[in-house]
Parts: sequence; C-alpha cells; structure tokens
Amino acid sequence: MNKTKSISVNACRALLALTFIFSGFVKAIDPLGSQYKIAEYLEAVQLSAYVPDWAQLMLAVGLSAVEFTLGVLLLLAIRRRLASKVTLAFMAVMTAVTLWLTVSDPIQDCGCFGDAIRLTNTQTFLKNVVLLSASIVLTRWPLYQVRFISKTNQWIAFYFTIAFILTASLLSLYHLPIFDFRPYHIGQNIKKGMEIPKGAKQTVYKTTFICEKNGVTKEFTEDNYPYDDSTWVFKDTHQEILEQGYEPPIHDFSITDQQTGDDLTDSILTRDGYTFLLIAPVLERADDSNFGEIDAVYEYAKENGYGFYGLTASTDKAVKHWRDITGAEYPFYTTDGTTLKTVIRSNPGLVLLYKGTIINKWSHNDLPQQDELNAPLSLIETGREPEDRTWTKIVLIIVCYVFPLAFLIAADRIWSWTRWVRKREEWLRQKEDWLKQKEQSNRLYQLLKRKRQMRKKIVAGNWKMNETLQEGVALAKEINESLKAEKPNCDVVICTPFIHLASVAQVLDSSLVGLGAENCADKEKGAYTGEVSAAMVKSTGAQYVILGHSERRQYYGETAEILKEKVRLALANGLKVIFCCGETLEEREAEKQNEVVKAELDGSVFNLTAEEWKSIILAYEPIWAIGTGKTATSDQAQEMLAYIRSIVAEKYGKEVAEETSILYGGSCKASNAPELFAKPDIDGGLIGGASLKAADFKGIIDAWKK
Ligand code: PGA
Repeated sequence: MNKTKSISVNACRALLALTFIFSGFVKAIDPLGSQYKIAEYLEAVQLSAYVPDWAQLMLAVGLSAVEFTLGVLLLLAIRRRLASKVTLAFMAVMTAVTLWLTVSDPIQDCGCFGDAIRLTNTQTFLKNVVLLSASIVLTRWPLYQVRFISKTNQWIAFYFTIAFILTASLLSLYHLPIFDFRPYHIGQNIKKGMEIPKGAKQTVYKTTFICEKNGVTKEFTEDNYPYDDSTWVFKDTHQEILEQGYEPPIHDFSITDQQTGDDLTDSILTRDGYTFLLIAPVLERADDSNFGEIDAVYEYAKENGYGFYGLTASTDKAVKHWRDITGAEYPFYTTDGTTLKTVIRSNPGLVLLYKGTIINKWSHNDLPQQDELNAPLSLIETGREPEDRTWTKIVLIIVCYVFPLAFLIAADRIWSWTRWVRKREEWLRQKEDWLKQKEQSNRLYQLLKRKRQMRKKIVAGNWKMNETLQEGVALAKEINESLKAEKPNCDVVICTPFIHLASVAQVLDSSLVGLGAENCADKEKGAYTGEVSAAMVKSTGAQYVILGHSERRQYYGETAEILKEKVRLALANGLKVIFCCGETLEEREAEKQNEVVKAELDGSVFNLTAEEWKSIILAYEPIWAIGTGKTATSDQAQEMLAYIRSIVAEKYGKEVAEETSILYGGSCKASNAPELFAKPDIDGGLIGGASLKAADFKGIIDAWKK
C-alpha cells in the first residue's frame, strides 16, 4: 500500500515538476511576451489602467521565476510540505482562471507555455484539472517525495535556481528571448508563413446582422437578411467561428501607409534584396537611447539601396514626436500592435529581411555597429542568416545550470553518505556504550536491590505505658488474627510493657509477630528492686527489646554509658535490640542532628563487634516528631537514615551497613507510611500511638505492599 502511495506521489511530483520547469522556463526567457500576456489578462478584467508597464514586467519576471523554481523544488523534493502547498494554491488559482477562460473566452490563449505550445482554453482547463489533482495527491502525502538533496545543502540549489532563472530572464530582456518560439523566427519567409496550402480546411463562420425597425431590433443571418425590405435599418454585426479551419502560422501581418491608405505588405515582402524593418509597436514607449545607432543603420541602408521602414501601431502624433527627438528620416507605416510585439520582443527592435525572409533580428541594445557595416550586406556577416544556435544554447544551459546542479547533488549525496556512515558508526558506538552502561547500572541496581532485599523490613509497635493486661492480650490477639488472615510482607514486632510479655507471648504466632520489651535493666541480676533483667525478658518468650528510647533518656536519666551496658546484657541474653537515636528540636534548628545521632551511636553501640552488630536494629526518632503529630518529611528522614547508614559503613564496612535495618519513628501513620517506606534507606517504622489499634497498625504494615 505504501509502495503504491509512494509511486503515485512521485509520479504526480514528476509530472508537476517537469510541467512547471518547462512552463516557467519558456515564460522566463520571454519576459516581454509574458508581460504582454499579463496585460491582456488585466485588459480583460479592466484593470490595465491601474498597473503600470514596469509592474506588469516585474510580475511577469517574478511569476515565471516562481513557477520555474517551484518546479525545481518539486523535482529535487526541497521543502516538500511547503512546496506542495504552494503548488496546490497555484494550481487552484490557475484552474479557476482557466475555467473562467473556458466559459467566458475573454482571451484566446492562456499563455501557460508562452509561445512554445499553444492550447485552446478547454485543453488548458483540462490540463489544469489533471495538475490540480496531482497537487492534491502531493499535498496529502508530501513526505513520500523522495529527496535528491540533503536538507543542509538544499538552500544552495534553491538560490542557484533563482539566480539562474532571473539571469535568463534579464538576458532575454536585454537582448532577445534565448529561444524564439514565435512564427517570426530567423529563417521564416513571412509571405510563405501566410500561405494556406491548397485543399486546407476553411474556417466556417456564422455572421449575425442586427437590424432595427420602428424601435424593434432583430437578428438576421446571411440567408434571411431583409435585402428587399429597406425599412430595416442595419445596426451591427458579429461573427462567430462555427468550425476552425487551417490557420497559417502568420495570419495577421500587413503593412499600411496611413497617409495614402495603400497596402504595402506585398511590395515590402517581395522587395528584392535587403530590407530593414524598425519595429516599434508602441512608439510612445519605445526606448530612444540608441537612436544614433538606428540612424547609422538607416544611413547605411540608404547608401547601399536597402529598404528601411519603421513599423508601428502608434498614431501620427507619436511618429512625429519620435522624429522630433531622434531626427528619424525613414518612413513609418502601420502594422497591428500585437503582430509587431510578436515579430520582435524589443521596442524598438530591428529586423533584417532578404526577399521577405527574416535574416536577422536585433534588440535595440544589440544593434549592428557602424564598424561592422563597412561593406554591402551580401559581403559581410550581418547580411547572412546566423547559423542555428539552438543546440549551442541548450548545451550552454546544461553547462551553466544543469551540470553545476548535478554536481552539487552528486557531491551532496557523497557527503550525506559519508556523514551517514560516520553517524551510524558513532551511533553504534554510543549504543554499545549505552548498553554497557545499562548493563553496569543494571548490575549495580540489582546489587542494591539484593542488598535492600537482604535487609529486613520491619514494622515494630511500641505500646509505651498503655493497655491493661487484658486489653493488651486482646490487642495482641487481634493483631495476630489479622496478620494470620493476610500475611505481612515484612517482619512485625510488638513491644509491650513487662507485665504483658508472658501472656502476650501465649497468644502470638511467633512466626508472624515478634515480641519485645520496651526496656531492660542495666544489671544482670540481684538486689535492684523494681527492675527487670534482660534474662527475665528473654524468659517470657520475647525476642526483642527497645533500648535508648528518648523518653527513657529524658525522663529516667538513661545515659550513653547505662545504655551501653543494657545493650551488652540484652545481646548476651540473645535479645535483638531496637536501638533508638534522635535529636531534639533545638538541636535540629541548630543543625546539629548528625552530630547528636552520631554521638548517641558512638556512646552505646559502636563498640560492638561485627558479629554482635547483626542483632542490632536502629531506629531514628527525632524527638520533635514523637507523639506530636509532626512527622519528619520523607526527605528529611531519608537524609538522616542515609547518614546513619554511612556512619555504620565507616564503622563496620559497606556490606554490614547495607544489611542493617534502620527504622524511622515519630508520628508514623498508615497515611504517611507508604511515602516514608518508599525511600531507599528507610527499612520500616517504630510506631507509638498508631500501634495501639490493630487496624491502624495493620494499615502501616500494609504500606510495604504498596
Ligand atoms: P509515635 O511514637 O508514633 O506516637 O510518635 C513513636 C515512638 O515513640 O516510638
């Protein structure tokens, strides 16, 4: 399907490109001809009075340059989207114009291909419908046009094309059109061009006569014309072509002497020898800057007995004015303006005839110079028909435009190709690097993930001094039941007052919920009224003990030294220690939190061996967040836990640090737990208030499932 689309788009593009290049070119090399055509259009819509000649000429040069350049843009697929849209707009306007031409017939030839190809209005309209359809296809899928030149270098082709076509226009304007497609080209015998071959088809006309009688008008044909009834007064006549017959290439050439009314066509065209015709369709606007050279040619013609006539469509007044300013002595005769404009694209221009055959033509800028005219015409170059240089001109255009363009395209292709190869190599290298990096980071990520997975995720409750024995047992049961119903994917511990431990141990499934005390003595045993030793805690069935909680440090004067001893005894009795640390609000405001936490760890747990450290769980609890409802932000918590892990790493090595579970505590709830637990260094929470209701506590445990 895409292939069909691509073939159709590129076929349409080729059709449009070649048409535009051809039609733009033939008009560009005949700027005056294009200007005359524009004038005809303006005349048809009665606007010619508003657009001066110079503007018409600029429009002619500009439009043909645009058309030609657009063709080249399409051919090389430069600015594909824009060029397609402009083509569509151009074709839409042209189709509308030619539809109008077909319907109203105000102009005989649309001028699409200058004088190179003449089409009837209907043919032109049909041609435009085809081109419009092609441009619709192009606009629909512009990017299917295959590029011939890279985006980087296309501007060179663009400007080069504009420079070429404008130069061609200007040269044609200054001299004469590079190619002469008109019937009055060099070598044409004007009389012969007017002949109708024997047996050629005649044009059939229908003539209508309009007559009036007593205020009534009536139309008559040749057949029913009221020849006998003189009461019908003839008013008007018009003629219509019923059938177009053979039309000779030259059919409108005549020379009349305005003074005498004589038709001089025959006598001039059959005149023996050489005849110069100074052609000035509109004498009022003829360029008089080279009149000296014209006069010199006239003098030369007179001396050698050659004819020299001025032909114009202008009035006697204009002729007189011309004579006044140039001193011209040669006679002026009248010929139709359009015919004269067709004979030569220069106002004035000089034509040399030999027995009615056009031998040479000169723009007023290239008139034969006096030193060239040093002998009779039959003996010099000027009097000979120049050899046909069509092929030389074609080769010149190829050398000046097509070759450099082809060279540019070839160089561009090679450049693009090497760039593509280089880019591809670079891309392959980058891809390889990227894959390596990805693999590395993947490995690193996997390692970290494994490490993180290796660390225990823990949610520990700290009941503090809450719940009677019965309430506590009931709460423990409820927690146990809900976790039995839905297995947690983290370790769950509840730390209760001493009196609950033995009873709660009975109701907990130790594989689901761990049990811990909130404190233990700093003495092994003996006369310490009211104290509970680590061994006693262990004997209840508990596996954990919280030590270093800020409330114990604050209200019961537990110093780093005392805690060091407690930790030692707890570990010695096979308990796991949840060791708390954290700073006060003042300390945080003074930005001393790191210092404080490090001192707490240094004072009580950093003395442990690596082996003993395996039984340590750290809990960072900023004192300002405990029971206050004020949680540290997840970023603050992460920052501190990462710091704690880094000092553990300094002390025990990276590996141990990666395996140490560090919890966050302080107003941790089901609502903020997911965000906190999502942080890479937070391995769970130590929960106070929210651990006293089974549902709240479960909510926090479930945060590990999110
Ligand atoms: P909180 O207490 O969750 O009620 O803030 C935490 C703790 O003290 O362990």
